[in-house]
Amino acid sequence: MDALIIEGPSRLSGKVEVSGSKNSALPLLFASILFDGKVTYENIPRLWDIETTLKLLELMGCRTEWNKTSGQVVIFPEVTKKVAPYDQVKKMRAGILALGPLVAKYGEAKVSLPGGCAIGARPVNYHIEALRKLGVSVEVEEGYIHATVKGKLVGNEILFPEVTVTGTENLLYVGVMAEGVTLLQNAACEPEVVALGEFLKSCGAKITGLGTPTIKIEGGGLKTSSPTVVIPPDRIEAGTWVAIALATRSFLEINHCDSSQMTSVLAAFRQMGGKIEELNGGTTLKVTPSEKYSPLHIETAPYPGFPTDMQAQILTTLCLAEGRSTVVESIFENRFMHVAELQRLGAKIEVNGNVATIEGPVDFQGAPIMATDLRASACLVLAGLISKGTTRVSRIYHLDRGYQRLDEKLCRLGAKITRVAE
Ligand code: EPZ
Repeated sequence: MDALIIEGPSRLSGKVEVSGSKNSALPLLFASILFDGKVTYENIPRLWDIETTLKLLELMGCRTEWNKTSGQVVIFPEVTKKVAPYDQVKKMRAGILALGPLVAKYGEAKVSLPGGCAIGARPVNYHIEALRKLGVSVEVEEGYIHATVKGKLVGNEILFPEVTVTGTENLLYVGVMAEGVTLLQNAACEPEVVALGEFLKSCGAKITGLGTPTIKIEGGGLKTSSPTVVIPPDRIEAGTWVAIALATRSFLEINHCDSSQMTSVLAAFRQMGGKIEELNGGTTLKVTPSEKYSPLHIETAPYPGFPTDMQAQILTTLCLAEGRSTVVESIFENRFMHVAELQRLGAKIEVNGNVATIEGPVDFQGAPIMATDLRASACLVLAGLISKGTTRVSRIYHLDRGYQRLDEKLCRLGAKITRVAE
């Protein structure tokens, strides 16, 4: 695994380009299973999770081509094995997204239970219960989900007990290929779900209500054989850059964004005192830092609420605010592991259940720290940038899972970061 050695404090300047969205790319890549002809993708980010997804598709029999320079991926979905094995799915929980397309297209799937991860147990019971309502027989044995369509896939009404992003995505795949109408209630409204639905609609699917809690899918399959899709920008990476600009008190221009997907994030940072101009139709964010930041009360929530994937980043920035802030993590049961690492740098944070209380401002002092989960690792890099002295962030594999060479982009803006093998 690699580690990053960060010399701080760093003042950055210049322009940065946001890469394609990981959480859009993954469901769109798995959607290739629904097609007979090749599917072409543009703007695929260079991430470990993309490597893992292509590996999973290859193990199913697909041929894949990935031009890592241009960001183009071509999938030839010649599926022969309807299996997503544990050794790949354990690396990336989104492997559960193989379940819906395999069931929808081939009527069978053997997909490893993803297992938990650092941020929580991450069950998939809502996925399974929903598939059963569409006539899929599902057994869970020896760590695998065995799904078989006996007869036909028939649309039905599904009420998700809790908003689930990949659960909604799995039911979009299946609803499109089922007979009759599938109605999803309490569906996820995340832009990544909308991007998948809009792609399926462009291929002939009849879907209404995308971006709302009620999605109606009229089955009947897809019409297009060899589609092309461009991955939209990563709203979480864009939000991470806003946090970095404000925390390091740098003037940054962030390009290739879509600010319409970031309203709650931009509102929070503006409320702190950051000045964020939306230019070029919202594709560029121009960030002006402030010398003083105000404390906030933040609660994570499903879209369009404040995203849990931005919780660690804003919590770190709030360590610089003048006064007491509180952050409530309402989505995952264990998503404060970054707090202990931030405390090693001098942060004054107390965690009580799912509420973190932050006293600021503090002066961070560099120290060795360890990444634990994908988004938390970005907040630790951010913390290293605002710490006096040297900070070594180990287990940076977590960062590379979700951010395309964040360290290289930071160095181009003036950061002093060295990547070392550990
Ligand atoms: C997606 O995960 C994202 N991953 C996560 O991003 C993101 O944090 C999460 O949505 C919430 O926005 C991808 O899109 C690949 P959920 P997902 O199903 O779909 C509970 C990142 O860093 N739940 O919306 O797995 C679950 O435990 C990742 O890129 C069940 O109980 O999350 C959680 O508390 C981290 N049973 C809540 O629902 C289920 O069957 C939301 O989970 C499904 C979910």
